[in-house]
Amino acid sequence: MTKQKKLFEDWAESYDKFVLENQHSFPFKGYSELIDEIIKTIEPNSTILDLGIGTGYVALNLQDKLNCKINGIDLSEKMVQIAKNRIRDSIIVPTDFNNYQSFDWTIFPSETNYILGTYFFHHFTDDKKVEIIEFLFDKFGKGTKILIGDIGFLNSTLMTEKKEELKSEWDETEYYFDLSTFSKKLEIKSYAIKSKIISEYCVLMEIKHQ
Ligand SMILES: C[S@@+](CC[C@H](N)C(=O)[O-])C[C@H]1O[C@@H](n2cnc3c(N)ncnc32)[C@H](O)[C@@H]1O
Repeated sequence: MTKQKKLFEDWAESYDKFVLENQHSFPFKGYSELIDEIIKTIEPNSTILDLGIGTGYVALNLQDKLNCKINGIDLSEKMVQIAKNRIRDSIIVPTDFNNYQSFDWTIFPSETNYILGTYFFHHFTDDKKVEIIEFLFDKFGKGTKILIGDIGFLNSTLMTEKKEELKSEWDETEYYFDLSTFSKKLEIKSYAIKSKIISEYCVLMEIKHQ
């Protein structure tokens, strides 16, 4: 088992409690506000594919409040089991997203309205994130919308300031969003991006194919 997988397997049982208790500090500051904003963004009765679905806490909110149908993937088998117990009529499978090119995405409905990733995309470099976004539009079509809620900052100056403030809390192995730089990378590819600052450390992005 990889170190990354073990981390999430060990965290699965206590994850919800940890996040809710730590939602006023780094890295989860704004977690509940992020969910509220996602609820305002997504159309009721949508079909969603949740990447890195975790325990399904975010998905459960979308199921209960918007009657959405949610499918998902996650690296951790324990996370997947917890999510499956919560989300009805779902396809939720354990898989390492690093193998996304060889994964059989046809198990999910092609008419997926939203692809969601909350606190998931920061595991990938910016270039990889763009490559993944291109891949997802290719697989699920131009009509799908990609929603990313994650650790991020308005621009590189703010990001550096926060990094200095947070010192050892900042995880050097993760790739947080600098909205200004990331938006430019997407605009070059002709994707439309709408973004919102949710908290000191959290941003929400809605990415559309034009
Ligand atoms: C911080 S949690 C976020 C969970 C959930 N989306 C949320 O917002 O609460 C990150 C999740 O991504 C999953 N994950 C991390 N790396 C992954 C990978 N390479 N492939 C699939 N899932 C991964 C972890 O197992 C974990 O459940």
